Amino acid sequence: MRNTWKVAGLVVLLAAIAACAAFAGAVWLGERKMRRSVEVRVVPVAFVKGAAALARGKYLFESRGCSHCHGDDGAGRVFIDEPGGPYVRAPNLTSGPGSAVAGYDEGDWVRAIRHGIDPKGHALLVMPSEDYSRMDDVDFAALVAYVRSLPPRSGEAAAVRFPLLVKALYGVGRIRDAAEKIDHRMPPPVPIAAAASVEYGEYAAAMCVGCHGATFAGGPIPGSPPDWPAAANLTPGKGSAMARYDTPEAFAAMMRSGSRPDGSKVSDVMPFESLRRLDDTELAAIYAYLKTLAPRAAGSR
Ligand code: HEC
Ligand code: HEC
Repeated sequence: MRNTWKVAGLVVLLAAIAACAAFAGAVWLGERKMRRSVEVRVVPVAFVKGAAALARGKYLFESRGCSHCHGDDGAGRVFIDEPGGPYVRAPNLTSGPGSAVAGYDEGDWVRAIRHGIDPKGHALLVMPSEDYSRMDDVDFAALVAYVRSLPPRSGEAAAVRFPLLVKALYGVGRIRDAAEKIDHRMPPPVPIAAAASVEYGEYAAAMCVGCHGATFAGGPIPGSPPDWPAAANLTPGKGSAMARYDTPEAFAAMMRSGSRPDGSKVSDVMPFESLRRLDDTELAAIYAYLKTLAPRAAGSR
């Protein structure tokens, strides 16, 4: 009998050792993946100038979340600092001291924003380039023109620190970076006129996929801190959040106020600081597009 217990104890111990070894191995894989080089074919987008491009670029910078993470002045800021959890500082995008983009050429902007890769070939870990990879060339050039026009400010380089568990999940592929999610062979989309149309809505809603998933079915946001709620299901499937919004006006009111029609607050994980700057046309277009989606179960991203 005693021998049986000894054997059982040994089996448990060996299993625990194996689990630790597997975890350490996954962390090691994660760290190795962070340092890997990613080769992509980059098609540069020519720099543009002019008041119209700068105005459109400012609108995109503010409404697409760039200013949320990099700051309104582009100098970079810490936007995730969880005790014992992840710590993330977005880098300085101005030309001032500590700039991450001082040496950028036309191709480097494309590599970072469309492909999620820095000039050294390393994958960006937090920057949601998958939300921007389908931006057309006209918008892309306008965005870059605006960022390059920002007055120089001093700021700091990027800092990304993940807990071991996140590194392990990244190592085994449960959390993927933007460079893994993007189809790097896709040519840029043909520009679509800004209008309250389904087509333009599909184009604009690309900024929601990083959180709501490519299918818009929502679910837990991969790699997010544990206290973040799951992203809502934006399809008409079971548990759909869009069922609350019968009219484009009701939807726009929530996107601007951060409150549901019954007055309750939507989590500010939804980046309302940026989303409330979306103009009427874009909100109406996004609404029209979301209403064409086929139903999917919540979380089937
Ligand atoms: C969710 C926060 C977030 C948003 C939104 C965001 N960024 Fe970033 N960005 C980062 C972080 C963090 C880094 C550092 C690299 C990484 O992710 O590991 C970064 C890196 C970059 C870099 C690369 C710098 C380098 O290392 O060479 C550029 C360029 C950049 N961002 C531009 C933009 C632009 C333009 C937008 C809007 C279209 C944007 N970012 C939106 C967080 C963000
Ligand atoms: C940074 C992640 C993030 C981005 C980007 C984001 N969302 Fe969300 N969204 C969330 C989360 C998380 C929730 C769930 C909030 C809650 O449960 O309180 C949510 C909830 C919602 C809801 C449900 C509101 C309700 O009535 O409960 C709608 C509608 C929505 N998002 C639409 C959008 C659209 C459209 C976009 C793009 C223009 C977008 N979101 C971009 C994270 C995001």
